[in-house]
Amino acid sequence: MIPQPFIHDLIARADIVEVVGRSVQLKKAGINYKGLCPFHGEKTPSFIVSPSRQTYHCFGCGAHGNAVGFLMEHTGLGFIEAVRELAQSMGVAVPEDEQSPQERERAAQAREQQATLGELLAKAAAHWRRQLKDSTKAIDYLKGRGLTGEIAARFGLGYAPPGWHGLASVFGRYDDPQLVEAGLVIEKQPDDEAASGPSAGPPQAGPHPLGGSADVPGGRGARRYDRFRDRVMFPIRNPKGAVIGFGGRVFDGGEPKYLNSPETPLFVKGRELYGLFEARSAIRERGYVLVTEGYMDVVALAQLGFANAVATLGTACTAEHVQKLVRFTDQVVFSFDGDAAGRRAAGRAMEAVLPHATDTRSFRFLFLPAEHDPDSYIRAHGPAAFDGCVTAALPLSSQLIEAVQEGCDLTSPEGRAKMLAAAKPLVLQLPDGLLREQLLQQLAQLGGLETDVLRRHWAVASAGASGPRPSRSTPEAGDPRGHAGSGTTTGRRWQRPAAGFDTPRRAPPRTATLLDRTAALLLQHAELFLHMPATQHEALAQHPAPYGDFFAALERLLHDQGPLPCATLLADLPAQVHDDAAMRLLLERLVHLHEIDSEADPAIELATLLDRLQLQAVEDEIKLLIESGDLSDTAAQRRNELFGLRAQLKAPKPEPAR
Ligand code: UTP
Ligand code: MN
Repeated sequence: MIPQPFIHDLIARADIVEVVGRSVQLKKAGINYKGLCPFHGEKTPSFIVSPSRQTYHCFGCGAHGNAVGFLMEHTGLGFIEAVRELAQSMGVAVPEDEQSPQERERAAQAREQQATLGELLAKAAAHWRRQLKDSTKAIDYLKGRGLTGEIAARFGLGYAPPGWHGLASVFGRYDDPQLVEAGLVIEKQPDDEAASGPSAGPPQAGPHPLGGSADVPGGRGARRYDRFRDRVMFPIRNPKGAVIGFGGRVFDGGEPKYLNSPETPLFVKGRELYGLFEARSAIRERGYVLVTEGYMDVVALAQLGFANAVATLGTACTAEHVQKLVRFTDQVVFSFDGDAAGRRAAGRAMEAVLPHATDTRSFRFLFLPAEHDPDSYIRAHGPAAFDGCVTAALPLSSQLIEAVQEGCDLTSPEGRAKMLAAAKPLVLQLPDGLLREQLLQQLAQLGGLETDVLRRHWAVASAGASGPRPSRSTPEAGDPRGHAGSGTTTGRRWQRPAAGFDTPRRAPPRTATLLDRTAALLLQHAELFLHMPATQHEALAQHPAPYGDFFAALERLLHDQGPLPCATLLADLPAQVHDDAAMRLLLERLVHLHEIDSEADPAIELATLLDRLQLQAVEDEIKLLIESGDLSDTAAQRRNELFGLRAQLKAPKPEPAR
């Protein structure tokens, strides 16, 4: 956790003209600076940077922010990453609030290792780029696929020649364990041999002169060899442009067609998108990003006028991918092959985008003829035809309506019910808004029901609903909090439930534990969580399952991505933990809970809850200590400490200044 005052101070001391000036050409204009806006295509500058206010503002597209905001917008970094980046560029060390020396040490080591891996990958990429220049076979292959040298250079394409130890000429130490860590070199232990067969490793038996037999005592040495051999190399870069992995394509016929870097501390497939770095400015100019499935699609599209394309890395599109993309643009077009596999991939992409589909964003789905991918289509039919496909791409709503009807006979009540059952989990993942409302109406019509019937059945609040909820979902008579029906809800704000979960017909649980209430409050107010000291995060993460897991996962997500809205947290938290079923159950309970929120200021409420949690912990410990009958001095001393703490926590607090 980076302390808040440090962040404020950092932004105050940053020179926004310098930060922006690194990527935008700026000219002095009066007291301000002016340039071409990097966030939308323009010919005359309407992008103003103000040194006095330390902000940028575009009069063309409305982009606006401070130095950290600029780094987030321009390079797609998360908030914390952007702060680190800014600090680094200013040569300032980031204090890690209340970290233990061990933690600090570990974090420093992890950063150092990432830097080392990054250097190795960059070196390999440069080597393979040079090799491409000398290989007529690889050049002919790329030319045969319609690529120019210019586009190959833009994407840093390379060639890894055949031979088991090509990288030995690049790195001083071929037995450096970091080469294995980086995924460049494979190390086969002698025992692996039987299982993997002779073709999986270098042909020669026994220790290779370069293999380092010495590092396996008492046996034949582990054998090392290059992962990528005789392949065209596609470096995968992160949004900052650093190489984090590779895809290597065989020349026609070999298997596997593409060999990819393994996941490493730098490279997580479900998070990265091929071509995002190269596509950044084109995405802004064209106003949308095109998401494809292949390396070649990205490169071919860039060659033929669609430089705004990226690709998933042989995995389904994840919510994390979408999260990354919406930082660059609010219009996303997915392209899929028209075959069954394409439909399946579209289904998964649809699930990934639902929680992000706010009313101002557009997600569309393009299906190419079954025999085509974007690369083959644009070469066969030309850019104009492909542009036509983009224009005709189905919006998310149509895609959803179409997908849920699959295998349902809408002429029968059973078929209509089946269709609605398929639609329910999808619709409930949409954030509260008018898109969800439209879909509700459309689905009701298709299912032969009144919209209100469907809404009640799915327990979805109507968009923008606020004020008292219908008496149906207010607490039952006899509720200990004393609310019996809608008449008594005056003065209490009944908030609508967050998207994605049913509202129970019954009242929220009567005995909401302190942990439940703390968790529910933090889901709604992620910014409060971010302002808590690291020790408090740790204390929360220490609680038994599922709470401990919940707080730890919340910490990870918010630390990486800054304050996220509740709907996004609800969607993303389960994937963060081992037991996602338990997490879903907890989340479902929590979203009902915030209905009992009072009108208290959430910050004050949080402070109260944390105090009460601490008091509970103190009282539990006192009880244990007394029950244990421990009469030692240390026990007595601890007991006194605890009594003191308890008195302190129970003392009336001064009213906070408003
Ligand atoms: P495709 O087989 O559709 O490849 O795989 P492609 O991109 O059209 O490639 P070309 O045109 O034949 O050269 C799509 C993506 O799936 C992953 C790669 O990311 C590839 O770009 N993939 C495919 C693999 O990782 N390994 C494979 O063996 C095949
Ligand atoms: Mn292809």
